[in-house]
Amino acid sequence: MQLTEEERKEAVEKSREILARYDGSRGGLIPALQQIQDVLGYVPAEAMREAAGHFGMPAVDVYGVVTFYNQFRLTPPGRHQVKVCMGTACHMKGGNIIMESWERVLKVKVGETTPDREFSLERVACVGCCTMAPVALVNETVHGKMTPTKVDGLYFSHQLANQQKKEGMPE
Ligand code: FES
Repeated sequence: MQLTEEERKEAVEKSREILARYDGSRGGLIPALQQIQDVLGYVPAEAMREAAGHFGMPAVDVYGVVTFYNQFRLTPPGRHQVKVCMGTACHMKGGNIIMESWERVLKVKVGETTPDREFSLERVACVGCCTMAPVALVNETVHGKMTPTKVDGLYFSHQLANQQKKEGMPE
């Protein structure tokens, strides 16, 4: 995903600011990356390069760490964040079918953001609503007893709301 010049600059500045709190011993790498993600919402390549320089390790090793742990995002989150629960209860009730349905309508894979940055898709662990399994969240709203048809409905209602917003119509 292409970042704007401003986003790149912000990524470098914020990463340097955070990395300055760590003395360069490698145990600080993961906490530093977590802080970077907390601030930026993801860990861009610029941040990985800065971290590599700070901790004196090859950038490819930092990339390896970021991709190994699925808590890290590599792309900026979308304006609408779709999270599909993959906890045990949701998994048993077809959480993977719900994930595939979102991948189908959004045309991205889990962990990615749509090119217009409207939606990002990720998996989450149990969100505590197991009786409503399978569950998906759109932003902070929990949607239970999800089906592929409900995924279509949610997607199109958000698309419609976005379009109305662009056209200045009441939602
Ligand atoms: S497993 Fe999905 S809400 Fe608990």
